Amino acid sequence: MSNLVHVRDGGDRLTVTELTSMACLLLVAGHETTVNLIGTGVWHLIEQPEQLAALRRDPALIPAAVEEMLRLSSPAHVATLRFTTAPVRVGGVEIPAGEAVMVSLLAANRDATRFPDPHRLDTGRPRGGHLAFGHGIHHCLGAPLARLEAGIALRGLLARFGTIEADAAAGPPRRRDSTMIHGWEALPVRLAP
Ligand code: HEM
Repeated sequence: MSNLVHVRDGGDRLTVTELTSMACLLLVAGHETTVNLIGTGVWHLIEQPEQLAALRRDPALIPAAVEEMLRLSSPAHVATLRFTTAPVRVGGVEIPAGEAVMVSLLAANRDATRFPDPHRLDTGRPRGGHLAFGHGIHHCLGAPLARLEAGIALRGLLARFGTIEADAAAGPPRRRDSTMIHGWEALPVRLAP
């Protein structure tokens, strides 16, 4: 952010509009998403301690765990707005041409006809096929970075803390009330070496 501001202040390489839209993009698309992927991912491991133990035994499973966390709790609830160019039939409903469509990636990723036992995190599940990063021409530009960040964070957490559990004394976790970003307002955890 500082570098971008310096580029703006030091010359005419970025307009104010370009600078502010880049700042929003980095904060929302680049930061809120990965923060919440890590938060919900850790929560799933707390809820399914056998998966946490499996990752500790075999850290080579971490990339598979990141894909499962993306599938199960993608931080981006809906894809970029789409518009129908022709009538489309989805789930028995006809959407006329020229309509705006909000696609729920979270619902698609828990489709039981595609992912058996969809509400479980399962690092042994065949990888791929989820829509956490969208699809087609607008597929997320930051997907490789997001995968990298989540893997590094998980590896670091597991290496540093032998205990990762919910902190019941601090109260239940509170989900964020947002249609756009799926994540936490508060996720109290107890960590010990
Ligand atoms: C867990 C992390 C992330 C998730 C789940 C995620 C998810 C998404 C989704 C669902 C879209 C819309 C795709 C579509 O409608 O087909 C998108 C677009 C985009 N994302 Fe991400 N994102 C993440 C991280 C990032 C990061 C780290 C960056 C950049 C630093 C980034 C930059 C972008 C950009 C620039 C677009 C727009 C692409 C376009 O419209 O062509 N995202 N992302």
